[in-house]
Amino acid sequence: MLMQESVADREIFSRLAIQPPDALLGLIGLYRADRRPGKIDLGVGVFRDDAGRTPVMRAVKAGEAKLLRDQESKSYLGAEGDIRFVELLAEVAFGAGADRPVGIQTPGGTGALRLGAELIARSRPDATVWIGTPTWPNHAPIFREAGMMTRTHRFYDVASAAIDFDGMIEDLREAKAGDVLLLHGCCHNPTGADLNSAQWQEIGLLCARRALVPFIDLAYQGLGDALEADAAGMRGLLDMLPEALVAYSCDKNFGLYRERVGALWVQSGAAELVRSNMLALARSLWSMPPDHGAAVTRLVLEDDALRADWVSELDAMRARINELRSVLAASHPRLAAIGDQRGMFALLPLTPEAVDALRRDHGIYMAGNGRINIAGLTLETVPAFVAALASYL
Ligand SMILES: Cc1ncc(COP(=O)(O)O)c(C=O)c1O
Repeated sequence: MLMQESVADREIFSRLAIQPPDALLGLIGLYRADRRPGKIDLGVGVFRDDAGRTPVMRAVKAGEAKLLRDQESKSYLGAEGDIRFVELLAEVAFGAGADRPVGIQTPGGTGALRLGAELIARSRPDATVWIGTPTWPNHAPIFREAGMMTRTHRFYDVASAAIDFDGMIEDLREAKAGDVLLLHGCCHNPTGADLNSAQWQEIGLLCARRALVPFIDLAYQGLGDALEADAAGMRGLLDMLPEALVAYSCDKNFGLYRERVGALWVQSGAAELVRSNMLALARSLWSMPPDHGAAVTRLVLEDDALRADWVSELDAMRARINELRSVLAASHPRLAAIGDQRGMFALLPLTPEAVDALRRDHGIYMAGNGRINIAGLTLETVPAFVAALASYL
């Protein structure tokens, strides 16, 4: 006799649980519905200019015009994507003439992280990925969905607005040989607190001594101090160690967000083995990455004039962020650390209640953990922002 089955049991998706919605997307809706003229959006993590726009960069527009004019075919590329794009981007990331790890194009930094996670999971499913707290909220899910175990280590102390380096090293005592250490290359999201060169060096020694493999997430090169300086920590680490992974995003420094442009590089003694597995995994994940943004990035990087214009616009974006950082730091003692931190984000020492109150009473929107996108401010809005904030600091 057939067992009685409920309708719910027969339905293929009935065992799924509802997932929490993306909090930042919810914030966009609330911000749009807010009719107050002085409202300030510090939530979503995209660059904004003085007029609140997230523009298509000049060099990117010119590259797109060129692509439209000259592209003769949209026939398939391979799973590796646009090889020339990967070569030119490697120069930006690792420096001209430097040894290049094995690399392929990926759909954004997220695709690079996921591909790296799948590669590690395939080879070392028992490795643990160590992730500092706090971090970009997508880091842990990317590794977990690839089947990897994750653990956290201390990274940033909100009360003192500083990296808790001793806490980090102490927590990493529990890491075992072959474990992976996820690091932000520059412009740490959400804190803006970057490792200094002595700390990079110490982490390199720790990884060498304990056989830990760094996985560097470089999503904001050029938005911290300068293109070269922002890659220095990562480059130093690659010089010290036989194995490392680098997930790169062009979505911020080329303003290409929705085009999904990135690359994964892997430094390894087994380069051919790694490369063939990266390609096989990419093939099953997305077959081949989207072309448009990478093709445009290639056109910008291979044309001296366009490349120079891209660098100068990136310099201007960074200068705007760092000027706002200086002004914020000078405006309140509890914001002082923001002046030395880098990138688009800062983590304010606010309770969730204070974050709600700032939204409700002042029309100031930020992520629930107190992360602000500094580029959402202007020199004109900083005084009102700091005045509203002051009573909660
Ligand atoms: C630290 C970090 N890594 C990776 C990414 C992903 O970038 P992409 O949009 O290229 O996938 C982001 C995006 O916000 C990020 O903040």
